[in-house]
Amino acid sequence: MWSHSSVLYNPHEIQVLKHLAMDGAMEDFIPVSSGELGRELGLSQQTASRRILDLLDKGLIQRELGARRQLIRLTEDGMKALQTEYADYVSILEVRDRVSLRGTVVSGLGEGRYYIEQNGYREQFRRLLDMDPFVGTLNIRLAGEDRGKVQLLRRSTGIPMRGFTQGSRTFGAVKAFNALLGDIRCAVVMPQRSHHMDTIEIISEHELRKLLDIHDGDVVELHVILRTPI
Ligand code: CDP
Repeated sequence: MWSHSSVLYNPHEIQVLKHLAMDGAMEDFIPVSSGELGRELGLSQQTASRRILDLLDKGLIQRELGARRQLIRLTEDGMKALQTEYADYVSILEVRDRVSLRGTVVSGLGEGRYYIEQNGYREQFRRLLDMDPFVGTLNIRLAGEDRGKVQLLRRSTGIPMRGFTQGSRTFGAVKAFNALLGDIRCAVVMPQRSHHMDTIEIISEHELRKLLDIHDGDVVELHVILRTPI
């Protein structure tokens, strides 16, 4: 599932390379004293000096020995090591920004309609999601291997919506996540305080069953945006 970069650099190498790069060693040779480097990284002078020799051995930096200080610059391979590290972070953070969920379309008890038609919610759907939803929710029972991913939704703030009272009934606070079903814009809606669940509910301006010609038992894939750009 996870695609790791093919070359593995050890964390010590990355730590020193990053430090040197931040001091300008990507662009040019910079003077480096192992004593100073050690102090800045919380290492002894000997250890810092050994780290530099290791980087030289691996061809990640090049060195010129000056009269008083050594001059160091990152090699192409050294820069590549940092780029690889960067790409790993990008992929980690992307995974957390979006999540894809696969599941089966199922019928509920006709309750979705009752909730979605409440003005207390509708007003918030319009204002916060810019959506005037079809009256109902499409239920998707998640595939076994994707049930753990619901944790990501439960832990994320999403787009919070207040609860309200209507007559003698109380409607709980919910949160929504923008999502795409195929290329149709929709939103996942769930209680703020949700219990363990294997079914999620989706709202959309469209009657999704008709528009996408989907029926109970069909498998669909939903792309959920966990974070809303500010
Ligand atoms: O009976 P159930 O709880 O599944 O449905 P509901 O929430 O009362 O919604 C009525 C019907 O419209 C159900 O068949 C939903 O699957 C469907 N629906 C849809 O096709 N598109 C939506 N955006 C919302 C609901």
